[in-house]
Amino acid sequence: MPHLVPLWEAYRNCRLVELLCGGGGGSDGFEARKTLLNDINPHLINLFRWVQKGLQVEIILENDESVYYKHRERFNRIIELYKRGAAANLVIRESANFDLQALLNVEGQAFGQDEGSVIIGLVKDLLEDASAEPRLSLVAMDGNRITGHILFTNARIAGEEKIQASLLAPVAVLPELQRKGIGSRLIAEGLSLLSEKGVDLTFVLGHPEYYPRHGFNPALPLGFEAPYPVAEEVSDAWMVRELKAGIIGEVKGKVLCADRLNRPEYWRE
Ligand SMILES: CC(C)(COP(=O)(O)OP(=O)(O)OC[C@H]1O[C@@H](n2cnc3c(N)ncnc32)[C@H](O)[C@@H]1OP(=O)(O)O)[C@@H](O)C(=O)NCCC(=O)NCCS
Repeated sequence: MPHLVPLWEAYRNCRLVELLCGGGGGSDGFEARKTLLNDINPHLINLFRWVQKGLQVEIILENDESVYYKHRERFNRIIELYKRGAAANLVIRESANFDLQALLNVEGQAFGQDEGSVIIGLVKDLLEDASAEPRLSLVAMDGNRITGHILFTNARIAGEEKIQASLLAPVAVLPELQRKGIGSRLIAEGLSLLSEKGVDLTFVLGHPEYYPRHGFNPALPLGFEAPYPVAEEVSDAWMVRELKAGIIGEVKGKVLCADRLNRPEYWRE
């Protein structure tokens, strides 16, 4: 108790989770940033620290050995990415007006000569587009240097006025710093902030091998049409992730995006 009392001061309006039923079983539904964990299991404490830093892991509860090992491998890989230096000490914060040139530079470099100028134009447009609000623009800072940027803009589901959705586009990391976990941190932090803001669903048109690591699944089979049809052979690139549990299945429909994104050229993968 003497150790807990000062900690509890900092978590005055938060929950205390005490795990008595083995593993993470008792922690269902907690918000990591608003939770103080009390446990002596170092694996659990370690997992909780990563979750508080923004890591999101989705572990399907199935009593199946092979599924367990698959998830364990995936989890360890994510932690490795976090530890690969750059990502561990990053600060992720919302971008400000004075970051504009630096974040456009990251976008330009990440997407390369041809695509870079198109993406720079898109980001500038979306940062000014009133229909893109609420918007979430985050930068990854390594000291004073911006090394990554991610943008989420408003999306809606046709005929579902109460559903809050967002669209991830684009995310970029400086080429020399890629594969060090920066992209993963930006995505995890973005999803966590959106979830806190009450967003129900997030969509992305992107690499089908990359985003499933962050809980995204092909959206078309789940009933979500893209703003423009995505070619059948790459239709898995159109993905969704629910932030509010149970919303997928309850809601379906065509996704509508911000005006500046609503052009067919942005929907070719
Ligand atoms: C995509 C991007 C943002 C990822 O950021 P990052 O910091 O390099 O990613 P992380 O370090 O978190 O994750 C790296 C892992 O993702 C994989 N990955 C990265 N880009 C990928 C891609 N295009 N397709 C499949 N996997 C990819 C890497 O192979 C690596 O896997 P490994 O851990 O097995 O080695 C970054 O590579 C980038 O800026 N790319 C150019 C711009 C771009 O394509 N943006 C996405 C548009 S949808």
